[in-house]
Amino acid sequence: MMTTTANIAKTVPLMVPDVGEEELGLIRQVMSTGFLTEGSFTKDFENLVAEYVGAKHAIAMTSCTTALHTVLECMGIKGQEVIVPDYTYPATAEAVILAGGKPVLVDVDLENMNMTAELLEQAHKDSMSVFIPVSWAGVPLDPKIYSKAKELGLTCLEDAACSLGAKIGSDFVGKLADHSCFSFHPRKVITTGEGGMITTDDDEMAEKFHSFKHFGMKGTAFEMIGTNYKLSNILSAMGIVQMKKIEKIVNDRIEKANIYRELLSKVANIRPAYVGKGTRQTFQSYTCYVEKEGLRDKLRVKLGENNIQSQIGTYALHLEPAYRNIRRVGSLQNSELLYKNALTLPLHKDLTIEDQERVCHIIDETLNA
Ligand SMILES: Cc1ncc(COP(=O)(O)O)c(C=O)c1O
Repeated sequence: MMTTTANIAKTVPLMVPDVGEEELGLIRQVMSTGFLTEGSFTKDFENLVAEYVGAKHAIAMTSCTTALHTVLECMGIKGQEVIVPDYTYPATAEAVILAGGKPVLVDVDLENMNMTAELLEQAHKDSMSVFIPVSWAGVPLDPKIYSKAKELGLTCLEDAACSLGAKIGSDFVGKLADHSCFSFHPRKVITTGEGGMITTDDDEMAEKFHSFKHFGMKGTAFEMIGTNYKLSNILSAMGIVQMKKIEKIVNDRIEKANIYRELLSKVANIRPAYVGKGTRQTFQSYTCYVEKEGLRDKLRVKLGENNIQSQIGTYALHLEPAYRNIRRVGSLQNSELLYKNALTLPLHKDLTIEDQERVCHIIDETLNA
């Protein structure tokens, strides 16, 4: 039987990293030096990120998870409770547990999907010293959360895994919290394959973070117990090139998010991704909300049948087996609704307007037939 590709729908991936010849060129340069581990390329990558967000220090790490772990370990949170949003990737809570702390799960806002200042205040106890809000999907936090943290005497450690390039007014995420941690996983705004970064203005803590990722070494002595979370020159070379592209990447994502918004606003039973006022979002994930209960998964199947990749939003940690016995505050109702109904659509450099129209047409057909 003759086969034809004419009727096979084009595959639309969820994400396509913007990497190519330029990254390869700089990686080749690293190879030619023979110095592959952390080195001058890492330093250059750190400087580029620090300058970009306007922070005094940037410390490269192997991932956002290890970046969060480093901050918490250096703060010495053993035995302490640490507030984290329930609606997040497990890494946020895992970092707390790795550092010997106890996560406390709080709910998020149903629209912007982030923890709020009110939720922080409700869950706060005087025995706490740090909390970890997540600027999820690249939506900056409500600025009230930073002032509330100061009022409560809490260090704000922002899980900004999705938010490199996000801004509140003219201030970049990465200079707003006491310490911020970014991810360079391939689904993030820029990528080094795997990688992470801490940004901070705190000189003393920056020195500790640096020492922790170098096995606890300070000068020539091992003054604390550390580990090896160094980012290699090879991956840092990728990061250097990616930093040259970041503004283009973010602006392209915003443009395509605007197109989705326009198309989806004409479709009943789905709420386009949140757009805040006075902020710039990265749209690391274009996550909308299916308003007809129980249809999100059916929609994902339909999209899949048409070769369109999709994802859920993220996880409601209290529903995952490993987190069932973790303390929680309140009903976590919004987190649960988001876990069941949020839907992430493809968004990347190769996505065409025709792809976006096709995606939205299938959504309309499935939800409103
Ligand atoms: C909110 C959040 N925090 C942390 C992480 C973990 O980042 P990494 O893979 O760089 O450890 C992720 C990854 O998806 C995330 O979404």
